[in-house]
Amino acid sequence: MFDCVGIGLNAVDFICLLSKYPEIDSKTESTDFSTQGGGPVPTALVTLARLGAKTSYIGIVGQDENGKFLLDQFKKEGVDVSGVIIDKNCPTNQAFIWVDKESGKKTVVLHNSTSNVPLLPDEISETHLRKTRFLHLDGRDAEATLKAIRLAKRNGADIVLDAGSVRSNTEELLMQVDYPIVSEHFCQTYLETTEAEKGLEKLYTYGVKAAIITCGVKGSYGIDDTGVYYQPAYEVEVLDTTGAGDVYHGAFIYGLIKKWDLPRMMKFSAAAAALKCKKLGGRSGIPRLDEINLFLEEKENVK
Ligand SMILES: Nc1ncnc2c1ncn2[C@@H]1O[C@H](COP(=O)(O)OP(=O)(O)OP(=O)(O)O)[C@@H](O)[C@H]1O
Ligand SMILES: [Mg+2]
Repeated sequence: MFDCVGIGLNAVDFICLLSKYPEIDSKTESTDFSTQGGGPVPTALVTLARLGAKTSYIGIVGQDENGKFLLDQFKKEGVDVSGVIIDKNCPTNQAFIWVDKESGKKTVVLHNSTSNVPLLPDEISETHLRKTRFLHLDGRDAEATLKAIRLAKRNGADIVLDAGSVRSNTEELLMQVDYPIVSEHFCQTYLETTEAEKGLEKLYTYGVKAAIITCGVKGSYGIDDTGVYYQPAYEVEVLDTTGAGDVYHGAFIYGLIKKWDLPRMMKFSAAAAALKCKKLGGRSGIPRLDEINLFLEEKENVK
């Protein structure tokens, strides 16, 4: 039995730390560099694995060095890869990330070589989906995603969606997910409001169990049938915000597994995401359980 199975974009992240953001037609040197596994769903699964949950990733990687690197990273973290397909005709996705040292904000250029080789409904492992408590999705690979939802739900799993931006299947997905966790950008573009509380009300009309809107350093907002909640972001020495949202999602699913109440899940997720921001790249700073608990204890004592 898995706690969480994930389907969504994967990529190798090449992350450059820049003390000054380059202008077009200029040359510069990075102050630090790292190559890490990336992709919102994969990074959420690694977060869950570091917290001790049983996870499995379903997706396609290329039959190349980058694909091997991604698989090795998953295995090292203890994420099951028995549902991963290795495609010999398609190179593994790569993301080139520039991080501004001053603000910790980043610019991502994704070279999505698998965009024309979608994961097909026949390629997803039914066995994996029949034995998971949660299914985490990013909404890509529409056909396979819908089949995965059907299979997982039939066995009583809850569906979590990372909606960073609007896709053609967004409306259909929202009607089927239990826990949409969306970005501020999604709130403004799809929910058509700059007020998170209004965005939450709209998300709640889809019949979800709970919904979250994350607003970067401004924190996160959540709704369930007990009320509407706000969780500020924790103040930390930020080096790089890459993957903060992905880690928030992973930590939130951990809270769902533990059946915590919504404010506790939001607090825990904000702490996990903040700790991640202290290190370069989406994966190197993902904290373990004792680190999050210690961080939260220290924050409580400061009050
Ligand atoms: N600079 C920061 N300092 C502390 N915590 C942060 C910071 N940025 C983000 N976080 C935490 O991470 C959560 C998720 O961040 P954010 O809203 O940027 O996710 P996102 O839009 O999915 O971004 P991405 O997918 O690029 O990681 C925030 O709600 C907050 O708790
Ligand atoms: Mg995100």
